[in-house]
Parts: sequence; structure tokens; C-alpha cells
Amino acid sequence: MKRLLSGIKPTGELTIGNYIGALKQFNEMQKEYETFVFVADLHALTVYNDPKELKEKIRNLIGIYLAVGLNPEYTTLFIQSENMYHANLGWVFECNTYMGEAARMTQYKEKSKNNESVSVGLFTYPMLMASDILMYDADVVPVGIDQKQHVELARNIAERFNNKYGETFKIPEPVIPKEGAKIYDLQDPTKKMSKSDDNEKGCIKLLEDPKSARKKIMSAVTDSEAVVKYDPENKPGISNLLVIYSSLKDISIEDAEKEFENSGYGDFKKRVADVVEEFLTNLQERFNKIMNDGVVDNLLDKSNEKVRKIAEDKVKEVFEKVGVGR
Ligand code: TYM
Repeated sequence: MKRLLSGIKPTGELTIGNYIGALKQFNEMQKEYETFVFVADLHALTVYNDPKELKEKIRNLIGIYLAVGLNPEYTTLFIQSENMYHANLGWVFECNTYMGEAARMTQYKEKSKNNESVSVGLFTYPMLMASDILMYDADVVPVGIDQKQHVELARNIAERFNNKYGETFKIPEPVIPKEGAKIYDLQDPTKKMSKSDDNEKGCIKLLEDPKSARKKIMSAVTDSEAVVKYDPENKPGISNLLVIYSSLKDISIEDAEKEFENSGYGDFKKRVADVVEEFLTNLQERFNKIMNDGVVDNLLDKSNEKVRKIAEDKVKEVFEKVGVGR
């Protein structure tokens, strides 16, 4: 069975963008692949987080994974920092990546622009991400479009390592959703909806009050044309709402367009708001039940055994190949 691996950073609060771009795909693909999904908590350290809050977010993210439908029967859920080997392999990859190639990462360029005080970790983080992926010989890595470049770097690192030291890593494929690879901010639909964003009104959080999410949809920026049509270039606000609607309803964008052929924006937004409110209400019900049931620790203990064994074998092989140790 082919392997799937992906992860999410427990910073900020997860948004509907993370769901549509990533979580929904993990969920749909888990039966077809041997699936590994983890909490990228070491990645969260690239910026300062309140330690107590970080722990809570890590635990909540496991709850969200379960609440969206990841099933431990198909998916091994784990926390990155609980498997020490990720950082070990990350170091080997830092030593096999060129400065120029790391400096080309768009996310690093954007975050470090006019900012002297970004951490070195922000620069080297794609190599840790390569370690997450290549450690498990993942065949596919479902991510939103903003992470595609990092998966491509992981491919380059794997190829380089294999050429230098002999066949060691599988070359992974990024899997980007056809629609919804990038969900935009509701107030500024030219910008990615982001969990670390300050603009509360533009962003729908998975654990926020469904009624407040409803209001945000109702006040989303649109345009003055009054036609519900998918046209990201000229109608970014309406197109974004159409993507959200069709993803949550699991229908095509064309079918969603047809549904609203004769609707005005008020009616359209109301229907999108209904779907979002219902989605969040159901998700949160499942989330609360999971967190109250106290199933998380048992599950993590069990999967830790499995992932540590895989990682230990891989790192031993790599250390042997590069020639460190006795
Ligand atoms: P992170 O935590 O920023 O985002 C998690 C996933 O959500 C997707 N995403 C979006 N998709 C659509 N629209 C949006 N507005 C949106 N915002 C976020 C991201 O593309 C991502 O798939 N470095 C990664 C975490 C990571 C990882 C890995 C992923 C660490 N190691 C190994 C895959 C494999 C990150 O910071 O994602």
C-alpha cells in the first residue's frame, strides 16, 4: 500500500482554509493509503508561542484530526516532537541543502522581508519538513498550494541524497486539491486566509462560535456585478465563497454556480452561511465529545511505538550511509 504523509503546524487557530486545503484531502484519501498525519509542533517554534497555549493547541489539533474524520484504523496520528528522530534527520538535510536554494523559498522571503529578527529556524524549516516527509518514504503529500514549493524542495533533497549516498529515500509527490488549494481572506480576497492572521473578520476558525462565522460570511467582501459566477480574477470574493460552498457540500463549482444562477448576493451569502454554520456546529460537537472522552493519550502512545520504529531504522540507515558514529 502506498504511503500518505502530511502535517499541520499548531500555531494560531485552524481555519476553514486548513480544512478545505488539507484536512478534507487527508480524510478522503486515508482508506487508499497507509496514512500518517502529525502535529508539526517543532515547526511552531520558528516563532514565539506561549508554552502553555502551545500545549493546548497541540492537543486540540489531535482532537480536530479525529473530529474531521481521521480514523485510527487507517491513519497513524502522532506529535512530531515525540519522535526525536525528525530533528536528527533534519540536521543531515540542512547539511545537504544549499543556502541559495533555501533562500528561494517564497514563504521565507515573504516572512523575512524587512524583518531582521526572524529566527534561523524559519530559514531551515523546509529541511525539517523534508525530514518529516522522507523519514516515512511517503509517496504522496497532500497540502495546500502554499506548501507545494516545500514538498518540491524535499524531492530535490531526496534525489541529491540518493545520488550522493545511494538509494535511500522515496521521491514524494505533492497532492494539491483541484479546487480550494488556497482559500482567501473574506475581507481581502487577494490574500490567503491564515491562522496567524490578525484580521479576525476575514478568517473562519474551525472552533469559533458558528454564529460569529455566519456573520463573517454575511459581511464578506464581494463586488458590484450581482452575478454569482466563478471568476477568481475579476470576482475574487464571490469565487472564494463559491469554493467554500462547493467544498463543504462536496459538489462541483459548476453545480454550485447553477444553483445560484438566479440568486442575488444576499441570498447566496445566506446559503453559504447556512452551510458553514452547520459544518462548524457538527465538527465542534464531535470535537467536544472526543476531548471529553479522553481517548487522545492512549491513541498517541500506541502510534508513537510505530512511528519511532520506522524513524529509528531510517536514521540508522542514514547515519551509516553518511559515515557518522562508530
Ligand atoms: P500550515 O500549518 O501552515 O498549514 C497546514 C495545511 O493547510 C494548508 N493551508 C491552506 N489551504 C488552503 N487555503 C488556505 N488558506 C490554507 N492555509 C493553509 C497548507 O497548505 C497545509 O497543507 N509546513 C507545514 C506543516 C508541515 C508539513 C510537513 C506538511 C510540516 N511538516 C510535512 C506536509 C508534510 C505548514 O506550516 O502548514
